[in-house]
Order: sequence, then structure tokens, then C-alpha cells
Amino acid sequence: MNVDFANRVKNLPPYLFKEIDRLKAELLAKGVDVINLGVGDPDLRTPSHIIERLQTAAQDPANHQYPLYSGMNAFRDAVARWYKQRFDVHLDPSTQVLTLIGSKEGIAHLPLAFINPGDVALVPSPAYPVYQVAVMFAGGTSHIMPLVKENGFLPDLSAIPEETAQRAKLLFINYPNNPTGAVADAAFFEEVVAFAKRYDIIVCHDAAYSEIAFDDYRPMSFLQVPGAMDVGIEFHSLSKTYNMTGWRIGFAVGNAHVISGLAQIKSNVDSGVFNAVQLAGVEALDGDQKCVQEMQAIYQKRRDILIEGLRRAGLNAQPPKATFYVWCPTPQGMSSADFTAKLLKEAGIVTTPGSGFGAPGEGYVRMALTVDKERVREAVHRILKLSW
Ligand SMILES: Cc1ncc(COP(=O)(O)O)c(C=O)c1O
Repeated sequence: MNVDFANRVKNLPPYLFKEIDRLKAELLAKGVDVINLGVGDPDLRTPSHIIERLQTAAQDPANHQYPLYSGMNAFRDAVARWYKQRFDVHLDPSTQVLTLIGSKEGIAHLPLAFINPGDVALVPSPAYPVYQVAVMFAGGTSHIMPLVKENGFLPDLSAIPEETAQRAKLLFINYPNNPTGAVADAAFFEEVVAFAKRYDIIVCHDAAYSEIAFDDYRPMSFLQVPGAMDVGIEFHSLSKTYNMTGWRIGFAVGNAHVISGLAQIKSNVDSGVFNAVQLAGVEALDGDQKCVQEMQAIYQKRRDILIEGLRRAGLNAQPPKATFYVWCPTPQGMSSADFTAKLLKEAGIVTTPGSGFGAPGEGYVRMALTVDKERVREAVHRILKLSW
């Protein structure tokens, strides 16, 4: 076979977890008891009432055919009800809501609808890698907005050169943030709306972690800010909120023009989400939200154990108000990659190097709170034995 990969494949950044996976496999082969704080995949099970709804919906032959491209009316209506109840934002389910095969799918397809070759997108770093790759797949160029501690891990919009802002078509933001755990307030979102209006830019707010929050803190929706509906959309996911990562269901909401662009790309690429999964999604959104509160309490407990331990070990980690990630600074002078390797080799703990999410993430490692509290305690116990 002499057919080479296309440039978009050749230009993909190296797989973030490749070296970690290699080291992890090596330790597992040696019989080491590895604690995995590397992946952001909830260890908790999907609540029973959601599973039961899937079971009955899967038995109904009406659900066995191709779904509607934009999603079942029942699911989009449930999204609108949930939005009104959770954020007091009114959505028209027929034009402002779109079912996604997980929010990753929607994020990855959006640039294809609005970016022409050579166009610019404003992308944060460190960040979920899909934003930058999706822009590259569409032939666009990413202008990186560094997220640094001094600015609360929010992008500094005033640092974007005038000429770049004039050319930009898309702006990605993500709060509560992966990987930094940072949150955004109304003042920041207002600044984003004003910036987007000034330069005619579409805002894509990734709110995948809006329901993973602690200490009575409730993240807001970008669409709660006046004018946001004119400039952008928001991505949500049932993956983290209801421990449904494997089910593949999420949604985009907001500006009808942006939603329709994304829907046009999708109708040519995929054929929607299995109706039975959408009906289980309706159950999740309409059903008792006690399961969400219980999940929050579990992550909060794990967070407190880990933060307390890291501080005792001399690492100045801040407790995140939201997300199940701890963004932990490395010990003085140690690179992200070296600290990750040390934690793995000397303590059998898998973490993700901050630099893997983009150069501005150097000096941090990300720890996911997706193992039970006894394992978090064990991780702390092992970290306290290390020296640096
Ligand atoms: C910031 C962020 N956005 C989106 C996603 C994608 O979630 P899903 O496709 O499962 O809805 C993830 C998953 O880890 C994420 O961390």
C-alpha cells in the first residue's frame, strides 16, 4: 500500500497518553498495583432509573429505525425543560437544541460548518485537545489563548492582537475547565459576549462539567448572560452528569443559526443517537436529580482527601470548585513530564502531565478524582513517602 495518510492525520499532535500508557503497561506487567488518576472517566455507575428506561425503550420496535437527524422531539423538549429549570434560560426546542453523539462529536464537527481554509479560531491552552484538532481538520488556524494562574485560568481577551481578532470566526471557552478546574463568572461571560459582538465571532462554550460542582457552588450557563444567545452556543454532556460516558449522548443549545450549521454537517456525517438512548436521556434530565447531588458529594469527599494530602506533601494544590480534576503544581523546578514519570515509577500513580494539554500547562499535572476514596487515600499515602 503506497497511499500515504492525509496531512490532517500526519499533522495530528502525539497521543497524549502514549508514553504514560507504555510506562503503565510496564508496571502492570511487573505486578505493581497501579492507581489511575489519569483518565476523566467516572468510575460510578449510571443511575438505575436511567438504565431501566433504556431497557424498556430498547424493546420497542418503534425505536429500532433511524433516529431524526436533529434528535427526538421528546429529548429536545426535555433539554429545554432542564435548561429552564436549571438556568432559567428559555430555549426553542425546534431551532435552539440539537442532540449530539456526546459533546465531543459536536465540538469536533462545529468548525466544519464555519471555518474555511485559512480562517482563524481562538483556542485556549491548556485545553481539551479536540478544539485545536477540529479547527485543523477544517483547514483553519488556531490562535492560542494561554490560561495562566495569574488570570484565574481565564483567557486574556485584551492580549489578542487586533488583526487576529478581526480575522477570527470562532472562540472556544470551557468552564468549569478541563484540565485546570477553574470556573468563570458572569463578568467574564459578559466580556466574552462584548468581544464576540465587536468582532463578529461565534462563541462555543463547552459546559461538559456544569453539574460537577462542590460546596454549594452552581456553575452558570453562558446563555444566562444578556446577548449570549446572539453570539454563541453551549455544549453539554450527559456523560459526566449522569455517569453515561459510554452511552454517547450530549447536546448543543443556543443561537439558531449556529445550531443549524452544525446540524447540516451532522446530517451528512451521522444518523443521530439511538432513540432508546435518547429516551433514557429524557429520563435522566426529567427524573430525580438526587443522583447528581450524591455524585457531587462523592467527588467532593475524594477532592478533600487528595487536596489535604497534596498540601501535606508540600504541593500547593488548590481545591477546585468544580470538575473532578485537581490541577496540581509540580515540585519546584520539576517538569510536568518528569513529575508524572516519578509518580508513576516511584508510587504507581498515573497522572497526566499538564504540558500534554498545551505548552502553557507546563509546571502542572492533572489528577482525576475518578477512583474511590480508599484509593485516593492510598495515593496520598504513597505520595507522602516520596521526596523531591
Ligand atoms: C472539556 C470536555 N469537553 C467535552 C468532553 C466530551 O464529553 P462527551 O463527548 O462524553 O460528552 C470532555 C470529555 O472528557 C471534556 O473533558
